[in-house]
Amino acid sequence: MISPDKIDAVKNANDIAEVIGGYLTLKRTGANFKAPCPFHQEKTPSFVVSPEKQIYRCFGCGEGGNVFTFVQRMENFSFVEAVKHLAKRAGIEIEESRPDPNFSEKESLLGANRETMNYFHEKFKASEKAKIYAKERGIDDATVEDFKIGYAPGDVSVSVYLKSKGISEDIMAKAGIAGHGNSGAYDMFRERFMFPIFNLYNDIIGFGGRVFDDSLPKYINSKETPVYIKGRNLYNLNNARKNASDGTIIIVEGYMDCVTVYAAGIKNTAATLGTALTPDQAKLLKRYAERVAIMYDMDDAGRAGAIRAGDNLFSEGLEAAVVSFEEVKDPDDYIKKFGVDALRGKIKSAQPFIEYKLDYLAKQGDINNAYYKEKVIKEMAELIEKTESPVVRDNAVKIISKKLFVGYDVVARYFKVKNGLLAKPEPGHDFDDTLAMKNRSIDEAERRIVSMALNALGTENEVVILKHIQERRELQEMKYDDFKNTIYAELMVKIKTYFKAGEKNILKHIEMDYIDNDEINRIISELLVQKPVEGAAKKKVHTADLMQEITDYVTTIVQKSKTVPEMAEISQKILQAESEKNAGLLRELQEQKKKLQKRMHNIEE
Ligand code: UTP
Ligand code: MN
Repeated sequence: MISPDKIDAVKNANDIAEVIGGYLTLKRTGANFKAPCPFHQEKTPSFVVSPEKQIYRCFGCGEGGNVFTFVQRMENFSFVEAVKHLAKRAGIEIEESRPDPNFSEKESLLGANRETMNYFHEKFKASEKAKIYAKERGIDDATVEDFKIGYAPGDVSVSVYLKSKGISEDIMAKAGIAGHGNSGAYDMFRERFMFPIFNLYNDIIGFGGRVFDDSLPKYINSKETPVYIKGRNLYNLNNARKNASDGTIIIVEGYMDCVTVYAAGIKNTAATLGTALTPDQAKLLKRYAERVAIMYDMDDAGRAGAIRAGDNLFSEGLEAAVVSFEEVKDPDDYIKKFGVDALRGKIKSAQPFIEYKLDYLAKQGDINNAYYKEKVIKEMAELIEKTESPVVRDNAVKIISKKLFVGYDVVARYFKVKNGLLAKPEPGHDFDDTLAMKNRSIDEAERRIVSMALNALGTENEVVILKHIQERRELQEMKYDDFKNTIYAELMVKIKTYFKAGEKNILKHIEMDYIDNDEINRIISELLVQKPVEGAAKKKVHTADLMQEITDYVTTIVQKSKTVPEMAEISQKILQAESEKNAGLLRELQEQKKKLQKRMHNIEE
């Protein structure tokens, strides 16, 4: 293991602007630098490097982090490899201290996987059989290279090779590359066409291997290991995210579809790894795409899988759509029969998931039967309620109402009031939107407070700002770490702990605590680096203004957390009064609602 002090020294010796400047042409804009983002396709540069904060962030795709994260991404390095690489660059000697057993096992597994990938890839190039198979499947040389397609000859071939490289049988077995036999290790993949699986750092985390004929099982896959969790990775996401220039990523069911669709020129495609698409995978996709097109097989399993995938994607707030085609089983077959342009057309006209699911459910029973119809509406409502968008919700209610011949108001009754969001808007009021905005602005206010705290660290304002945040929140009976967003809460606790301990360089401590945590690094960079305003001169910020801003955010949070549930309650009562046709009560409630609405607007001002 490399000691934290060493890591810190390496970080200090490698200025982020210099390191990134070695890869990209950076243009100075005020205190920062800008360039087109290397992690996604874009025309106008939204990739910002802050030398002051030693952080980078892309305002297009949301990537961000420190100098190590950047080198990991660019060079396909693991964290340790990135530290070693930058140490070398700065002429720092790295001697590893006593190894952390967990850490080193992961590194060993990744090392064994990489050797195996290289070995299979070399064998592929030497195998006529494998090359002919690739050709038959429409996989050209460039695609073989991009995916590092391999050939596993089998028996004890890779086991012997790995042994010669000093890799233990224990690690081979743990990686799922070899099994233990009476006469030693034997290969798990024998006579198979190999797909190595890369993660976002381009580590090799596992393999899938297909037979060359019709024998069974068709595919053999690596088991899960400490470096390979199937529900948290997607095959080819490392490439797909770079090619999602229009914000869309396509999801297919397996390696072969992914590779053949890529070979045909559709490169923004990733695949699940033999399991249903999980909420974790949906979260992962949300970082790189706005819209996900589900392109599964045209069989019952594929259609059911599309429903589960769509449910999870929609619940994460992604726009999901489902691609359908006739006559063939999967996208690979479709291209072979109708060509890639026809498939592109199918992707373009993918059906919005809400419609797809409604049609799917309608076909599962007798939709003319009122009881079944109600069941379908309930199930749809349960899903649609997960959206934060009143527009998406309203649209969905309209679709259900139209497709099932049920009045809008009737459909709307199946929706619970959540976050004060009603399916049925008041005529003449854009209430739903206002309420949604209020809720979002609680998160925004929290984000701004944490951002201001982090930005104050190490400046002359540090003490004043941190104390002010604490006082304002205490005044409102909020705890220092009482944030809805758990990562913000965690960061605030860190700040408080180091502040109390009298630490000088709190930001550095926090950064070191999370130095190899991809997710938190991204959030820290998001909070620390603000979007540069074009042509704006850098104004001097006055401490008093900052304090006022904090006071405002705290007030916003308090008021909005109070009014939102109140409004929800009144809205619920109004619905009730409406259905009971209680005109007197209705008038009274509407009066109350107006008052509350006014109060909310006052907060806004
Ligand atoms: P399919 O059976 O749909 O195969 O498996 P395919 O992708 O069309 O491949 P070709 O065209 O026949 O060569 C889709 C995915 O399901 C998993 C794999 O992840 C595969 O990529 N699978 C399938 C297995 O894990 N094991 C199997 O035996 C079959
Ligand atoms: Mn197929």
